[in-house]
Amino acid sequence: MAKDSERMERIVSLCKRRGFIFQSSEIYGGINGFWDYGPLGVELKRNIKEAWWHDMVTNPPVGPDGKEISMVGVDCSIIMNRKVWEASGHASGFADPMVDCKTEGCKGRFRADQLDKTPCPLKPSKCVGQHDKCQLTEARQFNLMFETYAGAIKDEENLVWLRPETAQGIFANFKNVCDSSRVKLPFGIAQIGKSFRNEINPRNYTFRSREFEQMEIEFFCHDRESMMWWEWWRDVRINWYKSLGLSGENLKPRNQDEKELAHYSKACTDIEYCFPFADEPQELEGVAHRGNFDLTQHARFSGKDLTYFDDERKERFLPTVIEPSAGADRSALAFICEAYTVDPSRPSPELLKFHPRLAPIKAAVFPLVNKDGLPEIAEPIYREVKKLWPAAYDPKASIGKRYARMDEAGTPYCFTIDGQTKEDGTVTVRDRDTGGQERIDKSRVVEYLREKLSR
Ligand code: GAP
Repeated sequence: MAKDSERMERIVSLCKRRGFIFQSSEIYGGINGFWDYGPLGVELKRNIKEAWWHDMVTNPPVGPDGKEISMVGVDCSIIMNRKVWEASGHASGFADPMVDCKTEGCKGRFRADQLDKTPCPLKPSKCVGQHDKCQLTEARQFNLMFETYAGAIKDEENLVWLRPETAQGIFANFKNVCDSSRVKLPFGIAQIGKSFRNEINPRNYTFRSREFEQMEIEFFCHDRESMMWWEWWRDVRINWYKSLGLSGENLKPRNQDEKELAHYSKACTDIEYCFPFADEPQELEGVAHRGNFDLTQHARFSGKDLTYFDDERKERFLPTVIEPSAGADRSALAFICEAYTVDPSRPSPELLKFHPRLAPIKAAVFPLVNKDGLPEIAEPIYREVKKLWPAAYDPKASIGKRYARMDEAGTPYCFTIDGQTKEDGTVTVRDRDTGGQERIDKSRVVEYLREKLSR
């Protein structure tokens, strides 16, 4: 997928119109870098997080040795002891270079390393720094962590940060998890949760936000096996996106070169995706080999022994970490962009071809007309379906309009009850992607959906 601004605009417009994504505090003019998920968006994002948790934690993949890998989860607080961020390096090093423009009417703040990609607010046809009126300051470092105060007094003592990643909660709990859950190396600890970064230039819709959700795994293993696990995790994560509908064509794994790698890291693959808002593929997830940097730092700063005793090897050591770190919002945006389809042969040409596991509404039930005893047959079917999956019931408007509304919401199956249902007990099932229809017995609706949705 090459850059296509018009397509992106149509996606943003559909997301607003159908209640996937809204600007946060829109009635007050919005707030830059913050987004809300509407009724359909919240279901989509929940489905993404649930699919990730199911496929990575509760029903994890089979490892290279043919055995299911060992995974557990945690849910840590967003605000943590400040020492966590001193140990991780975020307090001193989590910063972007920034410049200010002193010009009256602009007074903008920009990422110094992205000036050539940032339009000047006073003259958008030029980049920041290229307009005669630009008066840029020298670049200085700007820490991206949001500050607040824990306690009544706003002083240095009570200063705390909102976490900029979920990973450190996992490292800080490494010993608790080892002591409480009898996990044996190699094993992973997973977490899904909000992270906050005071990004200088939030942009590209939800792609770079100031509040976002991460889905992170820290996988602890012996250093000797670590490169094998890193490769394995990279493939598992690429295949996970493919299994939920991202085409291989738009997914571009990119190995970081030596210059990009953190000093403690042996290898990192950025799993990138070709979004319609950019010429270059953009990062969806990083799969990083982090060595034992984090555990070393936390052991040093906390004074606690974070080594692991390996019973089989009779060896005590700090495990090496492989970190697949994904963004729930970036995944949601990629799944929306991939699902967005324009089919000019349809009266309402826009539809979202979500994988059934991700579709916000799994099925809709329609009486063809809102009379003649059809609602009396349709309503009980709808109630049965709704017990198991998010479903919609719509008795009004032309059948074409009702199908089109469901296509735009990404609903994979619509069941219509019509005159023939009264005669032979069959209903029509319409497939969102093909528009094709077949008749099945009304008693088979739940079974039909169960079979289709389990794929
Ligand atoms: N613990 C490692 C870590 O946080 P990262 O590459 O900074 O690594 C991981 O972030 C993922 O979190 C990214 O690949 C992306 O999906 C998501 N992410 C990071 N910053 C984001 C932002 N400002 N807005 C939305 N998602 C973001």
